[in-house]
Amino acid sequence: MNLPSLQEARKRSKEKTEVVYLNQTEEKIVDYKKYFLRTYGCQMNVHDSEQIKFILESLGYMETEKLEDADIVVLNTCAIRENAHDKVFGYLGRCKHLKESKKDLIVCLGGCMAQEEVVVNEIRNKYPYVDIVFGTHNIHELGSLIKNTLHKQDIEVYSIEGKVYENILYKRDSNITAWVNIMYGCDKFCTYCIVPYTRGKQRSRRSKEIINEVKSLVNKGYSEVTLLGQNVNAYGKDLEEELSFAGLLEEVAKTGIKRIRFVTSHPWDFTDDMIDIIAKYDNIMPYIHLPLQSGSSRILKLMGRRYTKEEYLKLFDKMKVTIPNVAISTDIIVGFPGETDKDFQDTLDVVNYCKYDNAYTFIFSPRIGTPAAKMEDNTSLKVKEERLAKLNELVNKYSLEHNKELLNKEVLVLIEGISAKDSTKLYGYTDTMKLVNVEGSKDLIGKIVKVLITDAKSFSLDGKVIQNK
Ligand code: 5AD
Ligand code: SF4
Repeated sequence: MNLPSLQEARKRSKEKTEVVYLNQTEEKIVDYKKYFLRTYGCQMNVHDSEQIKFILESLGYMETEKLEDADIVVLNTCAIRENAHDKVFGYLGRCKHLKESKKDLIVCLGGCMAQEEVVVNEIRNKYPYVDIVFGTHNIHELGSLIKNTLHKQDIEVYSIEGKVYENILYKRDSNITAWVNIMYGCDKFCTYCIVPYTRGKQRSRRSKEIINEVKSLVNKGYSEVTLLGQNVNAYGKDLEEELSFAGLLEEVAKTGIKRIRFVTSHPWDFTDDMIDIIAKYDNIMPYIHLPLQSGSSRILKLMGRRYTKEEYLKLFDKMKVTIPNVAISTDIIVGFPGETDKDFQDTLDVVNYCKYDNAYTFIFSPRIGTPAAKMEDNTSLKVKEERLAKLNELVNKYSLEHNKELLNKEVLVLIEGISAKDSTKLYGYTDTMKLVNVEGSKDLIGKIVKVLITDAKSFSLDGKVIQNK
């Protein structure tokens, strides 16, 4: 048993990150058994789940969408806000019921929540029927943890700075778009954020490994890659003689992959070089997710974000001027400890200036172990909810406006599949990451097609295919 420790997870040494080349060969151990996998949180978790799926399927499990049919349940969790926790504990309750009638059911909890001491203590004390707890640093061990489970709880979580693993095998969800990790962890320690504790120190992958992965995806026929990291703009800063993010983007662009995206950006690490490279290559999509968090310089300082409102706006303007047709989205937290009406008004002012294409908005959620959780917070939940509602109204207005600008225009859409809401329609995304639903034959899936936009809503567009590229 190895338990998590936030104290340990906080540490950052100067030592070079170890690169470990995995030799993942899982032998088949079950027949006709099913797994149920639930993924919470960010794209990083979605991609980790592709690794989990590979392991489970190599062991012989088949996926089921029904919890009741499962022989093994894996919850890949998120720790970013309290409501993510609540959902997982709700699911664990359902697993308990199921286990009463299905004694051999294996219940596994992985991901960011598993890296938190409070969560693991609760699991140990109140959830004895959870068989395996694994963290973000040892997903590759899941196969052996399952093999060793004799229905006594096994907790293996490492609060280490972390290594870089290469040769990870995935069962990718799509054969059109793919996630590619370029770095792991984060050293920014924004005062509200649990990620540097749950994901470890910033570790960049060697550019050679990343380029090889992208090239092999191109060879397999993938059209789009999304480069993933908690702070992609800091890519390479932890490596000697390596490329910066601008250099990496350029190398990825040269592989000839049709579309390149990247998340998430931190304004502090965003350089002019990066903006220039995005503008220079047609296959780097003109879409940037640029978290603001707050429009008040005073709150930004308390958040440890390292930029002021003015610096953010300067960067924003530079992007708009340099990258033709760029779309910019953001993340905003309301109700950070000490946020006044005036601070909130600053946030609204920035939103009114930037007119974001899209914004993800949250009420501050105190995370145990982070500095902001200890800050004095006198604002009532009611006021915070009112601020959130007001902010959402504004961001939705701008999303709709941006979508309406596309009415009767022709856009290029990469068709990704059949719409989940309407099986007679296909869906895809524009270069600026707008969701478009179209009518058309399944042969279009995987193609970039020219679409005439016929209707615009707040969160999606409807269109007609006018030409296959
Ligand atoms: N409370 C609320 N929102 C948070 N985020 C991160 N930590 C917290 C927190 N403690 C938001 C930030 C980040 C996004 C992924 O989640 O806006 O950019
Ligand atoms: Fe969290 Fe800040 Fe790192 Fe983003 S940059 S993951 S908000 S600590």
